[in-house]
Amino acid sequence: MPWVRGLVVVGLAAGLGLAGPVVVAGAGDRAGVGVAQDVPLRDLAAERGVRIGSAATVEELRDGEYAAVSAREFDMLTPGNDMKWDATEPARGVFSFERGDAVVEAARAAGQQVRGHTLVWHSQLPGWLTEGDFSAVELDGIMRHHIAEVAGHYRGEVYAWDVVNEPFNEDGSLRDTLWTRAFGVDYVATALRAAREADPGAKLYVNDYNVEGLNAKSDALYELARDLVAAGVPLDGVGLQGHLIVGAVPGGIRENIERFAALGLDVAITELDIRMGLPVTAEKLATQAEDYRAVVEACLAVSRCVSVTTWGFTDRYSWIPDHFPGEGAALLFDEDLRPKPAYDAVHQAFGGGGAPVEGCRVGYRVTNSWSTGFSGEVVVTNVSGRPVSGWILEWDFPSGQRIDHGWNAVFSQEGTAVRARDEGWNATIGVGGSVTVGFTARHAGSNEAPVSFRLNSAGCDG
Ligand code: G3I
Repeated sequence: MPWVRGLVVVGLAAGLGLAGPVVVAGAGDRAGVGVAQDVPLRDLAAERGVRIGSAATVEELRDGEYAAVSAREFDMLTPGNDMKWDATEPARGVFSFERGDAVVEAARAAGQQVRGHTLVWHSQLPGWLTEGDFSAVELDGIMRHHIAEVAGHYRGEVYAWDVVNEPFNEDGSLRDTLWTRAFGVDYVATALRAAREADPGAKLYVNDYNVEGLNAKSDALYELARDLVAAGVPLDGVGLQGHLIVGAVPGGIRENIERFAALGLDVAITELDIRMGLPVTAEKLATQAEDYRAVVEACLAVSRCVSVTTWGFTDRYSWIPDHFPGEGAALLFDEDLRPKPAYDAVHQAFGGGGAPVEGCRVGYRVTNSWSTGFSGEVVVTNVSGRPVSGWILEWDFPSGQRIDHGWNAVFSQEGTAVRARDEGWNATIGVGGSVTVGFTARHAGSNEAPVSFRLNSAGCDG
């Protein structure tokens, strides 16, 4: 697989008793760079002062190809399940960190920060807790002990914690859970204070879904955050999960991020995925690409928006098909780990040019010529097996030709090197699809045809 580069180092998930080793790929193994298309997302994001993360489970990290892409593209890792209550305290007072430790180890080897997820939630709780019929006093002790043990165990290893997850209903009312039944909203402050005590260096977040745009639920989160800040409770940021639907990305994301930032808080997009009804079509992929671009741009527009994390990165592994039958394909890479148009769009939003297109065919012809000049066109066909969203076509003129004027692309030329970039409206080249760019140029007597072309830095045939 050409897209998966770099040495893969196999590390043992010590003491796991699970089916196999977790594969950890070192950050130093990531491919060298130089051309904008070949630059991993994490390098582009770093240039923009943000982190780009992904969620992964121990099982997924055992897939070597997967682990290599995770290490190459992302500089932050969220355990998708392995730090949740049912994983970390399966029996009362009995703590189990092997799974979470394996994720932390993979992140360390790849030079990635860890977002801890999650200390206090109503879901994925062990049976002893949900069925225990505890008094409020007992629950208070149980929650504090859990936070002290888990956040304490990962002290110094976790950059940020989703301390409280999903406290609200869609209408902005407080969700009815064992925590709110016992303590009302006060459990949030208690949890944040306990987390600060357990790991004073970690950034502490409240995290929720359907709070990306401006709506009743995000208003409720805003009011909670405002009250916590005013009361001096240790809250450092809010997480906007971002489980979105193709073609239905809410407006107002930037404005929403801005209002949290104005409270002095960091904001993170913590679980981005944008699902579609199956089957996948080129049109849906193109819309999905624009949707991803919009979310990343909204984050980049506000300096307190510190990171974008996708909830997994490949359609090979995703929670969507299990939870929303008939839907899926929500992530940046397809099941074969090929970058999708959404990847190109995120790459471009961070200032890159999109992933290399490993498979293109080019036809070059002179359409008219006169003594000092000529007009020409280049037809480029995408035979890479994946749709492309955003492209740069490059070639060298062998006999000093100079472009005067071009169409269907934005042309630039340095010396003999010509660069033609899509004009936006023609950014998408579907599987087997073509685009034609044209130009007029001058020459000084000889007009040899270019010998090679590159599409998004990969060589083309023809
Ligand atoms: O561990 C059991 C396993 O023993 C059993 O054989 C198997 C059979 O289905 O289920 C396994 O549990 C599954 C668990 O993931 C671990 O794989 C659950 O059924 C499944 O429901 C659970 O889904 C997780 C989901 O949270 C639960 O709410 C997803 O993997 C996880 O990606 C998802 O993540 C959440 C975030 O934490 C919070 N925000 C929403 C996001 C998406 O739902």
